[in-house]
Amino acid sequence: MSDYDVIVIGGGPAGYPAAIRAGQNGLKVACIDEWKNYDGSATFGGTCLNAGCIPSKALLESSELFHRAQVEFASHGIKTGPVAMDIAAMQKRKAGIVKNMTGGIVQLLKAAGVTAMQGHGKLLAGRKVEFTAHDGSVKTFSAKHVVLASGSHPTPLKTAAFDGQHIVDSWGALEFDAVPKRLGVIGAGVIGLELGSVWRRLGADVTVLEAMPSFLAMADQQLAKEAMKHFKKQGLDVRLGAKVSGATVVKGEVQVSYIDEAGASHSLTVDKLVVCIGRRPHTANLLGEGTGVVIDERGFIKVDDHCHTGIENVWAVGDCVRGPMLAHKGKEEGVAVADRIAGLYAHVNYQTIPSVIYTAPEIAWVGQTEEQVKASGRPYKVGSFPFLASGRARAMEASQGFAKLIAAKDDDQILGVHIIGPMAGELIAEAVLAMEYSASAEDLQRTIHAHPTLSEALHEAALAADKRAIDMPNR
Ligand code: FAD
Ligand code: NAI
Repeated sequence: MSDYDVIVIGGGPAGYPAAIRAGQNGLKVACIDEWKNYDGSATFGGTCLNAGCIPSKALLESSELFHRAQVEFASHGIKTGPVAMDIAAMQKRKAGIVKNMTGGIVQLLKAAGVTAMQGHGKLLAGRKVEFTAHDGSVKTFSAKHVVLASGSHPTPLKTAAFDGQHIVDSWGALEFDAVPKRLGVIGAGVIGLELGSVWRRLGADVTVLEAMPSFLAMADQQLAKEAMKHFKKQGLDVRLGAKVSGATVVKGEVQVSYIDEAGASHSLTVDKLVVCIGRRPHTANLLGEGTGVVIDERGFIKVDDHCHTGIENVWAVGDCVRGPMLAHKGKEEGVAVADRIAGLYAHVNYQTIPSVIYTAPEIAWVGQTEEQVKASGRPYKVGSFPFLASGRARAMEASQGFAKLIAAKDDDQILGVHIIGPMAGELIAEAVLAMEYSASAEDLQRTIHAHPTLSEALHEAALAADKRAIDMPNR
């Protein structure tokens, strides 16, 4: 008899939901997690709760409020006098949210009957798991099923090695205790734009060096163009086609050298440098001899469409397997695997995973970009609606951006929705639901949207796809 029905290795947003759902399904479950914070405290929740989604959104909210208090309150007639930022208080609020949320995970695991273990887990041959607790003690457990959910870590850059003080990763950039006067960011991806925005709003001069000649290559390029316009206006200095050739710390400053597309050399001096050029799957010391689990050429654990590794009853989910590195993608995979283990129906629709960049304006999309639809050769139609024509966006003093819907010309299927504007990350949920249930653009057109709401922008974009928009001229 096995010690557990299911052992999950990793307690991030992929692992802990897998453990909870397996517990809900009446199985005997353990979840092992080795995360330790800077202060040495062990917590569950992984990257997302401790050093990713949650702390970054806390700082985005604080910094955006600070910025709005400075530039927007007066237009509402609010008189404030000089507005100042207390960075220590901002960081304390963030730490409180993280502590509360990670503590909540422990309670959720307990409520689902999951045994939570803090320390390192290693899969051995024959579905045995070696557990090394943080105090060094070692035990071995057997399991009918093992779910690997070991997550990812920041990709290092040889030419700008982390020193933990001046050249830092995204976690380091979430922990600054003062606003750097000059901040350098390598990588104009999701992290670079979100964290660059945080420190820019708080007063840093931010320069972002991006190796690619194009901006936000994974996004619809109309959205990317609009985003660049706003970031420029906000003072984010994004330099495209910039290949970093070196970064050295000299007398407390970081001297960065890079080469532009024309081959010319440049230098940049900053007080802090954040390297955020993507993340890599984390599989260090995860697999013992003879497990048979395969790591692919990019370092991911190899799985099939159902997150099965090909080794009997061994599964893998989240950032350590192929697909976008997003918390909600990992969560759906974790829950699906737990249901499959219990013999229940499970499905993850990889075509409808939303992406959100929590800048201001917010950027969100689901489905195919216009460039992808065009390349597919399928005839399509596009409808867009500017937030400038939305009464609610105007009332919110947030009328930048637009909602854009792409539908097939033949059967009206919604192929992609792309939104840049206020609360885009919330608005995209409607498009995800519509696409999940194969709604047509006409279905959205015939759905009543409350007035005045931001969601009317998506309604009007669907109408505009057939040149039937009401609140703007159709072109
Ligand atoms: P992780 O969250 O990395 O968790 C893996 C866990 O497993 C960790 O706790 C790790 O310590 C543990 N572990 C690893 N190996 C072992 C082992 N052998 N034994 C025991 N424990 C082990 N995604 C979004 O969807 N929205 C966002 O807004 C967002 N913002 C982000 C902001 C930042 C700054 C960063 C860095 C990431 C952000 N992400 C966001 C990405 C998101 O954090 C990840 O996609 C998500 O955390 C992946 O979940 P996971 O469970 O696969 O891995
Ligand atoms: P990313 O893949 O989003 O962006 C990395 C950027 O760095 C790319 O634009 C890439 O071209 C560039 N780059 C790569 N090598 C470079 C080099 N040598 N010099 C200069 N630029 C270089 O990765 P990022 O921002 O590190 O985020 C990691 C992951 O975390 C992402 O996959 C994302 O899914 C996830 N994340 C999600 C968030 C969200 O959902 N809002 C927020 C933050 C992170």
